Amino acid sequence: MPLTLTRPDLQRTANFIGGEWCAAAGRTLDVTDPATGALIAQVPDSGADAARAAADAAHAAFPAWRRTPAKQRAQILKRWNDLVLAHQEDLGRLISREQGKPLAEGIGEVAYAASYIEWFAEEATRANGDVIPAPVPGRRMFAIKEPVGVVAAITPWNFPAAMIARKIAPALAAGCTVVCKPAEDTPLTSLALVALAAQAGVPAGVLNIVTASRERTPEVVDVWLDDARVRKITFTGSTPVGKHLARRSADTLKKLSLELGGNAPFIVFEDADLHAAVDGLMAAKFRNGGQTCVCPNRVFVHEAVHDEFAGLLAARVGSLRVGPASDPASQIGPMINARAIEKIERHVQDAVSRGARVLAGGARLPALGPNYFAPTVLVNADATMACACEETFGPVVPLTRFANEAEVVAQANDTPFGLAAYFYSRDVRRIWRVADALEAGIVGINEGALAAEAAPFGGVKDSGYGREGSVHGLDDYLHTKYVCQGQLD
Ligand code: SIN
Repeated sequence: MPLTLTRPDLQRTANFIGGEWCAAAGRTLDVTDPATGALIAQVPDSGADAARAAADAAHAAFPAWRRTPAKQRAQILKRWNDLVLAHQEDLGRLISREQGKPLAEGIGEVAYAASYIEWFAEEATRANGDVIPAPVPGRRMFAIKEPVGVVAAITPWNFPAAMIARKIAPALAAGCTVVCKPAEDTPLTSLALVALAAQAGVPAGVLNIVTASRERTPEVVDVWLDDARVRKITFTGSTPVGKHLARRSADTLKKLSLELGGNAPFIVFEDADLHAAVDGLMAAKFRNGGQTCVCPNRVFVHEAVHDEFAGLLAARVGSLRVGPASDPASQIGPMINARAIEKIERHVQDAVSRGARVLAGGARLPALGPNYFAPTVLVNADATMACACEETFGPVVPLTRFANEAEVVAQANDTPFGLAAYFYSRDVRRIWRVADALEAGIVGINEGALAAEAAPFGGVKDSGYGREGSVHGLDDYLHTKYVCQGQLD
């Protein structure tokens, strides 16, 4: 099925460097529909030359952009936000087609992306420093916020619009210039967003984007890692890649924001409102078909309410509509690619071979296409299973029984990861005890939908560091310069 957009020029298939669209000079990368495997478009499979050109352009544009008054940068970002919202339907179609999420979710993601652009447009004018009372006479002391410089943004495929917005909007608001490498599975949404940013008035060289395949991505990123002019890397993706970037950034001591893997616990205490807990779990787990860093990966249910909760959940999960993004009734689309579906299948088979029982789903849905997996509920899951140790990144809910609070908090924290954690309880003392004890950057109490532009998003432990969104999200693109003036008496 052809991709029809109200504004066909939003389907871009070239790199954008120094304000120019640069078509592939050599190799190309196929962008395919995860529902069918059909070719949608071809974009450049770029290498070191394009990466270097992008860094040169971003470096050249930095002095003027950092001097551009914050209010002017804010106005450009506001225009970008308005254009993104004006083209919400087209962008939603692009997201759904290349990423596979149902159209309503794709359109919803555009609004989510725009909320970050709007937020950082407003924050741009508030990068305030401090006037520090001097400890000695005759001095004035200041802490001044400055943009860090050229930022390399490496973005994931699961939220192709929102993650671009969450990284690029604060960078531009702070006065940084950007080189970006979007995920190989979903470059079209990113290119469309960059086209709208240029239309909004982002000057040439301030925002540059280079597409590349999985195989060639290291060639692109290595150029930026080795380039001392690139002062910051912001990355969302796997923990091994995040650690690699941290190691490789050491020689040029870049600032880093790493939003890495999660293994979120979701705890249902015996005093929880079970219907609210099921609603929260459905919202948190099945957003984007479970392909979300913050989605619950391990669900612990108190033994007193386990069977009732499992029954309620299995009924809801069993009624989810799985199908292509093009069907308005679909609630779960295809998984992103063959690697993803193989991992999900491996996790379910491993769990069953170790004693888990399937209450709903449990298998691929080949009649729909190669990348569909039935939303699944497993009971009798335990910590030895792959689904408890690794992020499944798919529509699988493994339930584990627990007997008491101390035990479940220890189990929840028994992972190298610490991105999100959720729990349901109506006991106010327990609520604050457990919220304090959970080792996670984000905690949901009686709430499954946590993401918001005004909230700090990020992890602890192997889930990375740095925060996106909120006032803290701007700070990640700034450094503090101490200025002291003497001889004033
Ligand atoms: C992610 O999965 O990395 C982002 C999810 C979100 O913004 O809620």
